[in-house]
Amino acid sequence: MWTNRRESLTSSPPNNRLEIKRVSVAFGRNLALDDVSFVIEAGERVAVIGTSGAGKSTLFRAITRDIGVSGEVRLGGKEIHSLSKRGLREARGLIGRIHQSYNLVPQLPAGVNAALGDVGEMGKTRTLRTFLIGPEAALAKRVEAAMERVGLAGMSATKTANLSGGQQQRVAVARLLVQKPGLILADEPFAAVDPVTTERVLDALLELNGGGASLLVSLHDVELAKRFPRVVALKEGRVAYDGSPESLSKEKLNDIYDGDMETNPKESDEPDEPTGPDVTRLKGQDGISAH
Ligand SMILES: Nc1ncnc2c1ncn2[C@@H]1O[C@H](COP(=O)(O)OP(=O)(O)OP(=O)(O)O)[C@@H](O)[C@H]1O
Ligand SMILES: [Mg+2]
Repeated sequence: MWTNRRESLTSSPPNNRLEIKRVSVAFGRNLALDDVSFVIEAGERVAVIGTSGAGKSTLFRAITRDIGVSGEVRLGGKEIHSLSKRGLREARGLIGRIHQSYNLVPQLPAGVNAALGDVGEMGKTRTLRTFLIGPEAALAKRVEAAMERVGLAGMSATKTANLSGGQQQRVAVARLLVQKPGLILADEPFAAVDPVTTERVLDALLELNGGGASLLVSLHDVELAKRFPRVVALKEGRVAYDGSPESLSKEKLNDIYDGDMETNPKESDEPDEPTGPDVTRLKGQDGISAH
């Protein structure tokens, strides 16, 4: 099943349902995640909010088994933390990640970083070739299309370190477009980018979501989170809210942010007036334009 990744992605995959069951993570005496449970159905899009230190990044690292947990994390029914090394590699191949710090190799050309989205499909030799010489023709074409999609046409040869923060974030998204993952984990992908880039990055993530990928995005911007059909809030490692943005009251938000909206400067008293596409109303590819 895992090896049929591309096929299963195009035919509404049953294998990217994410089940988080009674997950706890402790760092010494600090319980970073405390009995967290929720399910993300295949193709869902969910915003994760919470104050600094609430456990958002820890949750993402628990899903990818970058840290050990007590409890279960199931992706497509397979328990990530009990998979063999090989099984884990295959499972991770299904997961596309974006981090606040981009996770790119700064010394490589941008296009090679984007091409590495295909690394799960490559053998060792092709991976090495991509590193040293660059992607082969067919892959280079997909990379160029992805770079164009994120507004970086013609910049594949530019050294990644010479790109701005926002441009690097877009390379990370281009890498996802090449990878076509079944589950996208984006940890504060908009933290270091301007509003226009935010919309562009969000748009590309939604396109992948429209193609069947589940989308889990951690955000500090509550207004942006409210444009997702489902919001999960963490507070001190526990799920403090899981539901629609409409039911997320001011009182609840105050509780989530400890009554300190300083940590969340983008929440306003204005009535909801999203500036970009309302993610909650988008279905599939509808409303998503190609750039
Ligand atoms: N490697 C680690 N070692 C020790 N403690 C850690 C480690 N990683 C995270 N923590 C602690 O776990 C808690 C949750 O941290 P986490 O990074 O998940 O928060 P977060 O919600 O992502 O915060 P932010 O919004 O600032 O990114 C914090 O108390 C943090 O100090
Ligand atoms: Mg974090």
